[in-house]
Amino acid sequence: MESLVIEGNHTLRGRVRVSGSKNVSLPLIAASLLTDEPVIIEDVPCLLDVCIMKEIVSEIGMGVGTEKHNLYLDASTVNRFTASHSLINQIRASILLLGPLLARFGRAKISAPGGCSIGSRPLDLHWKGLAAMGVKFTQRNGWVEARSNRLIGNHIYLDCPSVGATENIMMAATLAKGETIIENAALEPEVVELSGFLTAMGASISGAGTSIIRIKGVSSLKGARYRVIPDRIEAGTYMIVAAMVGGGVIIENVVLDHLKPLTAKLEEAGVQVVESKPGEVTVTPASFLQAVDIETMPYPGFPTDLQPPFSSLMTQAHGLGTIRETVFENRFRHVEGLTRMGADIRLNGQSLSITGNSNLWGNRVQATDLRGGAALVLAALAAEGKTEILEAHHLDRGYEDLELKINNLGGNVYRKRSRQEDYAQASASYA
Ligand code: UD1
Repeated sequence: MESLVIEGNHTLRGRVRVSGSKNVSLPLIAASLLTDEPVIIEDVPCLLDVCIMKEIVSEIGMGVGTEKHNLYLDASTVNRFTASHSLINQIRASILLLGPLLARFGRAKISAPGGCSIGSRPLDLHWKGLAAMGVKFTQRNGWVEARSNRLIGNHIYLDCPSVGATENIMMAATLAKGETIIENAALEPEVVELSGFLTAMGASISGAGTSIIRIKGVSSLKGARYRVIPDRIEAGTYMIVAAMVGGGVIIENVVLDHLKPLTAKLEEAGVQVVESKPGEVTVTPASFLQAVDIETMPYPGFPTDLQPPFSSLMTQAHGLGTIRETVFENRFRHVEGLTRMGADIRLNGQSLSITGNSNLWGNRVQATDLRGGAALVLAALAAEGKTEILEAHHLDRGYEDLELKINNLGGNVYRKRSRQEDYAQASASYA
């Protein structure tokens, strides 16, 4: 396993460019299965989750080519309706194959998808939504086999505004007979982008970005070329980095409109966030960082994915900040690492009370999930001495060129392999 070693206490300055959105790229790759014409997706980040998604669709028979950040996909050759469990169970987004495969081929087989271990993450809304459109499911040996004739549009009410379920149903509905209405749909920008991509492919969708999405099924979809929007969670993470250890950081390729809840909380804490020019944000730390309270919510509320990094920021604020997590039930796994680094945090059910002004010091800590790992990186940047973050692969799932980007800002981060890996590589070179 690789770890990240971070020397703390550097003031970061300069420019950092945000990569294309992971959570847009993944559903767009899945949606490309809906057509037999070529698709080009631009500004796809080079991340572990994206690589795994590409491997999954290749196994299904899709042609996949990459040139820099452009992805060339060709689903005219798809000849399988499932992929290896060892790939499916590495990412949550593998569930998004169901909708497109069922819509185009009437069959799909999937095992339990993976992803960050941040709660039970049920899939009932995916099953219910697709079943309402005529899909029959059978379960055997940990696999779910789904079959349907041509899907039939229906009126689907989601018990909660799940991003993944909204996306899966929306993709399935594009080729269904008749109209599908998704009520209590997720409002996230990623859903709006998927709708934009599907519309570019010839789908008939209205209402994306509101809680009622209407999709009129069409008989086929065509190829498209689409550019992925900036990753709002990566952007938000660098905004928090800049607030915590920055001396004037300019973040490029940001849609600030997608980050209103974060901007509001940073400003409430005394941080200055200025859109210096369109798509470019300058973040100046507070002279007196005030503790604030946050509560995570579906968009446009405060994003759960920025809750762990924000809790690191609160360890440096003056006063007591409370953080309530309402989206996932196990999203405080970074707290142990922060506490080991000197943070004063009390965990009480789904809430954290963080007493700020802590002197953090370097330690050996473990990343347990993607955004929890980011929280530890932030704390390490602010800490005295060196921190080693074990299991750095979690960060590779969502932060492109993390070390490079931080080092370009004046940080000191490097990657370290475990002794076993060094030994394995040395042995391989003698083989
Ligand atoms: C997506 C994002 C993830 C983000 C999350 C919430 C991707 C690849 N991942 O995950 O980074 O943290 O949105 O913004 O886009 N739920 C159910 N039943 C279901 C589906 C979901 O109860 O069938 C619940 C979940 O347990 C959770 C809530 O709904 O409590 C939100 O989950 P959802 O929006 O589906 O998240 P993901 O799509 O998995």
